[in-house]
Amino acid sequence: MLKGKNILLGVTGSIAAYKIATLIRLLVKEGADVRVVMTPLAKEFITPLTLATLSKHPILVDFFNPENGAWNSHVDIGLWADLYLVAPASANTIAKMAHGVADNLLLTTYLSVKCPVMVASAMDLDMYRHPTTQRNIEQLRSYGNIIVEATSGELASGLSGKGRMEEPEKLLDIIIQFFAKRQSLSGKKILVTSGPTHEPIDPVRFIGNHSSGKMGKSIALELAYRGATVVFITGPVSILPQHPNIQTIHVETAKQMHDAALEMFDGCSAAILAAAVADFSPKVVQKQKVKRKDDALVLELVPTCDIAKELGKLKQKGQVVIGFALETENEEANASAKLKSKNLDLIVLNSLNEKGAGFGTDTNRVTLIHRDGTVTPKELKTKEEVASDIVDELVGLLK
Ligand code: PMT
Repeated sequence: MLKGKNILLGVTGSIAAYKIATLIRLLVKEGADVRVVMTPLAKEFITPLTLATLSKHPILVDFFNPENGAWNSHVDIGLWADLYLVAPASANTIAKMAHGVADNLLLTTYLSVKCPVMVASAMDLDMYRHPTTQRNIEQLRSYGNIIVEATSGELASGLSGKGRMEEPEKLLDIIIQFFAKRQSLSGKKILVTSGPTHEPIDPVRFIGNHSSGKMGKSIALELAYRGATVVFITGPVSILPQHPNIQTIHVETAKQMHDAALEMFDGCSAAILAAAVADFSPKVVQKQKVKRKDDALVLELVPTCDIAKELGKLKQKGQVVIGFALETENEEANASAKLKSKNLDLIVLNSLNEKGAGFGTDTNRVTLIHRDGTVTPKELKTKEEVASDIVDELVGLLK
């Protein structure tokens, strides 16, 4: 199941390092090409000879070979890998990864790899639950790394609790599922709208909103990680997704977003509309800066074009359109009405009444509402995890 996959293992100094021999055997049996980079301390827990024999490749530990001066290129190995699994990941290595410390080959490789990174922690329970470690793990998660939580059980210290590295058989399962998911959208082109729009009043002022683009960015990256080609149409934001599969189109106004979306929708398998598009824009854009006066200023606003509604009308059999609903009252009823009136296949409701949800946050709490009336409330999650849930739904809808 892993034929043709290049898996790089990063082994750190932890008693759980002995389990890596089994993991390598399992990966090789599934057809993966496995290479191993170890920290110097990891060699005290399992010999490089054992891992080299099982992986059929020399083990990388040092920056260079002192006998012939040849460099072990962390850049080359980073480019080679389809997945970098750091397992077992000690508290020390997790802390260094979270803060960009690069004092061994495992860490310089981490900073160089282009592929997804998985981190399977292993340590004593008190170290694991320490706020510093937890914060570092969250930091790694926020960089898009996949965290394989430690499990509970007997620990090397004799204590019992959460801190054990996941068993090799389970890690193999996670890796197989990861690659299956990654290919689930290959060959598909998906349009994503993201961020706010700015509707100009005059050369210096606009009507906008608080969208940061974080939700849209997470969706675009998740789609790209699963092999899709992404057309990412974004309003003015400072954070953008970076991935070779993502083509970014920058727009300012609702009209520009509308024109770009309509032009690009043809040939797309789906559209996910996470942008907070202005519903109204000034009827007249003043050529010069509007001067301050003592009287009230009346702006005449006209409705913008509804991109979601137009794509809902245009969509052909097999095309899927997923919208968002940002509500402040009667959330479910309003979102369901939007789902119907815009002819969407799914609507993702987020409410500004929920703490940690909506604009600007790193988290979101959404409720998924389907055309058949099924309502699935989700718990508060990171925007990356919410994106993954939405893309799971999309994969189901495209089947
Ligand atoms: O960017 P972040 O800071 O991470 O915040 C994320 C978010 C809160 C912006 C996002 O999760 C979200 O809810 N996006 C949709 C916001 C919105 O405009 O909702 P709405 O209920 O007004 O619109 C309903 C749907 O119609 C949306 O899919 C919207 O993109 C679309 N729409 C709306 C108006 C319009 N003229 N054209 C549209 O396509």
